[in-house]
Amino acid sequence: MSLVRQMLVLGALLPAMLLAGCEECPTFEACEGTDRDISDEDTHSDTDTEVDPGEEAYSGNCTGCHGADGISGYATDLPDVVPDLSESDLDDIITNGTGTMPAISMTADEQADVISYVIATFGG
Ligand code: HEC
Repeated sequence: MSLVRQMLVLGALLPAMLLAGCEECPTFEACEGTDRDISDEDTHSDTDTEVDPGEEAYSGNCTGCHGADGISGYATDLPDVVPDLSESDLDDIITNGTGTMPAISMTADEQADVISYVIATFGG
């Protein structure tokens, strides 16, 4: 009688053990890869919608002297001057510096983005 019960218990445990082992099988890992792909897509679209590259370039290269709002830094208040400046004026100011402002070294893409951002934000 007790031997039969032991076999019954074993019969119940064995499928459970097999199922547990299956979580480490290649199929499960393949599913993990799919999850990772989906989360990469999400991260990418977040970047597209939430971070303006011009704003990012401004905060990385200009905020220290001009302030995040263009007026709270020690340097020239940007809303006072940007409406009178063209894209090529700004390009020249960033590339060569002006007065006591040093030349700012950035990639061509960053520079184009930051000029669009500065005109859109402080040019109005
Ligand atoms: C190290 C400090 C510093 C940084 C960084 C800096 N600036 Fe300036 N900026 C100044 C100073 C100082 C002046 C005033 C120059 C003067 O008239 O002598 C100035 C002036 C300006 C002017 C007005 C120029 C004019 O003709 O009156 C603009 C526009 C400008 N900065 C844009 C930027 C932008 C855009 C960035 C980022 C890409 C930037 N600055 C980064 C210090 C800085």
